[in-house]
Amino acid sequence: MYEFAIAWEWLAFAVRWLHAVTAIAWIGSSFYFVALDLGLVKRDHLPPGAYGEEWQVHGGGFYHIQKYLVAPATMPEHLTWFKWESYSTWLTGFAMLCIVYYGGADLFLVDRHVLDISATTAILISLASLGVGWVLYDLLCKSPIGKNTWGLMALLYVVLVAMAWGYTQVFTGRAAFLHLGAFTATIMSANVFFIIIPNQKIVVADLIAGRTPDPRLGAQAKQRSLHNNYLTLPVIFFMLSNHYPLAFATAFNWIIAALVFLMGVTIRHWFNTTHARKGKPTWTWLATAILFILIIWLSTVPKVLTGGEQAEAAPTFKRFAENAHFPAVKDAIATRCSMCHAAEPVYEGIARAPKGVILESDAEIAALAREIYIQAGRSHAMPPGNLTDMTADERRLLTAWFESAVGETQ
Ligand code: HEC
Repeated sequence: MYEFAIAWEWLAFAVRWLHAVTAIAWIGSSFYFVALDLGLVKRDHLPPGAYGEEWQVHGGGFYHIQKYLVAPATMPEHLTWFKWESYSTWLTGFAMLCIVYYGGADLFLVDRHVLDISATTAILISLASLGVGWVLYDLLCKSPIGKNTWGLMALLYVVLVAMAWGYTQVFTGRAAFLHLGAFTATIMSANVFFIIIPNQKIVVADLIAGRTPDPRLGAQAKQRSLHNNYLTLPVIFFMLSNHYPLAFATAFNWIIAALVFLMGVTIRHWFNTTHARKGKPTWTWLATAILFILIIWLSTVPKVLTGGEQAEAAPTFKRFAENAHFPAVKDAIATRCSMCHAAEPVYEGIARAPKGVILESDAEIAALAREIYIQAGRSHAMPPGNLTDMTADERRLLTAWFESAVGETQ
């Protein structure tokens, strides 16, 4: 039913909207607190137990904030917690993973040139990797290595690079990058859910009961916060990367991912140092620029093709290629789309198929039926600016093709 394709598209948009909003709230508050924490100043007149204070001005008023390292002497009546920003970002992100990558697994998750697995297997691998990732990370943090802040960070970096490589051996490049983002973001949210908030709750309960809270609880939460701080920017990069095939669909994409994690550190280091009023380490911008140029260069190194047959169209897509409208659809696509959406585009100024969308073989066209329907049938997003003069009749043809093909299966 074509209504389903339209409803699905709007569901995807709605969840994406929500995800972006919750992520802004989470990252915004997290950046704010990191900067606040680093900017705290120790003064003599501070109350007992207070570690530092800061004055801020915003929105027409002044704020006077004091931080108690372990806890204040008495519990205030009202405490504002920051947790739903993180949880809702993870929940909406997971919903998107289901809608885009599990719902469209044959298209976006599985690349049978990379690894010939079924959609179900791919989804199970995806789910397992996210769960196992957290368990492994948590074990490393709690192991003796966890006591060495920078040693632990180096080890975690190795884990992330290994995951980057691993994901590119299993999924499409696009899904590999998205999963690397999801893997990292799951660790970040789980840090909030399993460590930071529970530890804080224990401290609060201790205070109310008149016990002295264990300072190790705070120290552990702080370590996880530090990791979250350095992981934020790479996660945003990976989440946005699906718009940029040069990042995810080139031969050395996993090395690109490894460098992205380093850029997350170099950029955050500048802000962390500046907010702590310890000078301005300009070299970190130079390092970031070098990393970025290296990434750009890596994206142009051609893939050493190993050969391999074109995979046959999945049976679920056969109905699109065997539909009566298909010959006319192919003609329309050949004249209106293929100049850009080809392995070697001939359209001037287009060097690679935009977004990796190639519309040449029957299998490719059939596999992308829904995208074609949304982009050029139901909407006129494609061709961009109708550069190739697609007619209204041709759009009706694409619509009729998709709707009759999905109708046949009902
Ligand atoms: C002039 C070149 C050109 C032509 C012709 C063209 N496209 Fe595109 N197409 C693009 C570009 C550029 C993008 C990437 C847009 C973006 O980054 O949002 C794109 C993106 C797409 C996408 C992916 C959209 C997404 O957001 O994932 C699909 C599907 C697509 N085109 C289908 C078509 C179809 C079907 C036709 C023919 C009816 C067509 N295109 C004709 C340049 C073209």
